[in-house]
Amino acid sequence: KISAVIFDLDGVIVSTDEFHYQAWKQISDQEKMYFNREINERLRGVSRMESLEIILSHSDKNYSEKDKQLLAQRKNEVYCALLNKLSPNDILPGVINLLLSLKARDIKIAIGSSSKNTPFILEQIGLAFSFNAIADGNSITNSKPDPEVFLLAAEKLGVAPEECVVIEDAQAGIDAAIAAGMKAVGVGTAASCVNAQLTLKDLSNLNIDQLIEVNEIRS
Ligand code: G6P
Ligand code: MG
Repeated sequence: KISAVIFDLDGVIVSTDEFHYQAWKQISDQEKMYFNREINERLRGVSRMESLEIILSHSDKNYSEKDKQLLAQRKNEVYCALLNKLSPNDILPGVINLLLSLKARDIKIAIGSSSKNTPFILEQIGLAFSFNAIADGNSITNSKPDPEVFLLAAEKLGVAPEECVVIEDAQAGIDAAIAAGMKAVGVGTAASCVNAQLTLKDLSNLNIDQLIEVNEIRS
């Protein structure tokens, strides 16, 4: 039985990794810190402050906690200016169809994202009122791979974790789903979705029967 599908936001509903890259790149250049696209790939699903720590691990710079907060804030200002360009046209292939068919089958839909910009992004793409529940970076203390965000989404929906399937583009997110006792579908360029029950390029060919099958796999 499947009662709910929990969607990650960045990389599943909408592609923001290029904006994250540009924003971190700008700050790294200003600070003379090393940063490239390969490091950016490792920031998928990881919180803002943890992302900064990953970037800092590639340089010999030392910052106080307060300065790190300021750096993250500066990055977010650049990032939010880029998010202003987002529109419903940026919703990834297959997403709207899948949301509509889940609704038609009375399967609940939720967001489970590490991002504190979740409300802003959903508003930009016109999906602010489309989900039954939203669990995001503003309401959790431990980010993925900790299961907190997905467990919170299930709790808000009033659904047992075993009845939820998670759709994720990041390994940290797949790990979080498994830790929450949920099954996971991996999507996108992150081909290395280890432990995902199913891996797809995008959501355009995913149907509900496949999701039900995914949730019946007992490992
Ligand atoms: C998502 C993205 C990460 C990002 C995190 C925090 O999980 O995949 O790359 O670091 O959200 O985003 P925020 O919008 O709060 O800075
Ligand atoms: Mg993601």
